[in-house]
Amino acid sequence: MKKRFDQIIVGGGVIGCSIAYQLAKRGYQVLVLERNQIGCEASSAAAGMLGAQGEFLENSSLFQFAQESRALFKDLSIELLEETGIDIQYIHKGIMKFAFQQQQHHKLTAIAAFQQEVGNPAYMLSIEEAREMEASLTEHVSAVLYLPNDGQVCAPNLTKAFSLAASHHGAVFHEREKVIELIMGEGMIHGVRTTEAAYYAGQVIIATGAFGDELLPDYATLPVKGECLSLEVEPDLFQTTLWMDGCYLVPKQGGKVIVGASSIPGETDKHVSVASVHRLLSRAQEIVPKLAEAKINGFWAGIRPATADEKPYMGEVPGVLGLYVAKGHYRNGILLSPRTGIYMADLIENKPVHAYYYESFKVNRHGSNKLAKAGEPK
Ligand code: GLY
Repeated sequence: MKKRFDQIIVGGGVIGCSIAYQLAKRGYQVLVLERNQIGCEASSAAAGMLGAQGEFLENSSLFQFAQESRALFKDLSIELLEETGIDIQYIHKGIMKFAFQQQQHHKLTAIAAFQQEVGNPAYMLSIEEAREMEASLTEHVSAVLYLPNDGQVCAPNLTKAFSLAASHHGAVFHEREKVIELIMGEGMIHGVRTTEAAYYAGQVIIATGAFGDELLPDYATLPVKGECLSLEVEPDLFQTTLWMDGCYLVPKQGGKVIVGASSIPGETDKHVSVASVHRLLSRAQEIVPKLAEAKINGFWAGIRPATADEKPYMGEVPGVLGLYVAKGHYRNGILLSPRTGIYMADLIENKPVHAYYYESFKVNRHGSNKLAKAGEPK
């Protein structure tokens, strides 16, 4: 069995697989080690919303990075289909955000104003205008913000497609093989030890999402559980992704709608509570009353990895040459995955990256552990 690689990626979620794809495409010999199955955690629990505008009231590195990542999806969907035959089901039909109260109304207006200021399409619609686009919407909302450039993908397919495309370019994937130790010495990384063997590489990238913090406790993240449901609805009940405080509805192919998601800091178990289901379904029916007739197909939970400032960690670990971290993508792992793959591959190749991103995302940006303030529900 091959033991020496150019890079070892620890974690086979959407982030690890996107990095593997970029590195393998650039001709490197890559090993991905996944303790369970590829994409089995948050990457497949996600509803796949590509919401790069709806939460931003001011310019920030995360906002810029999100814009750049969202812009990659159109070509990526074609590229991955050609490379793998997997359709990531990229849908570019926009997101509507709803307000039910005055305070939320003000927030949507402020988001619209900022987005327009930076040249992004963002429109405050009357409820009549919104209902012309989506007839199944309730009449009882106070405001609607429409963001036509946002969209969505099938999150499990995206992770599968990245990993298959990476393996077509020579990346090696080991599933059910847990990394138990980083092999380091003389200020550099040498490899990793798993439950099965030791593997060696000049560069190791930790992309373990909400898990695997024991490998690098200094860059731990706060787990934030999210519970989701899948509903079966009449075809084309609505096509735009619908989003309000505490709930979003993402229409999928074949008359399915994913309803997400709760936000429970500190929980890592995957049970789905009656209270969360009740809350999500009540919110969902508030916005689309006809959902009362939908069938419940399934429910699940995933664990998001949050950092204190809700920006991902993407960079080299100080003092250990060749050791990198790419985790903490919190609520935006799917959205940020394409750009993260390119960014990390550039860092690893020592290509120049934007100084603004470098400073914002570097792993040692927090002087102290401020995790307590992360993960508050929105
Ligand atoms: N990306 C949406 C969520 O984390 O719930």
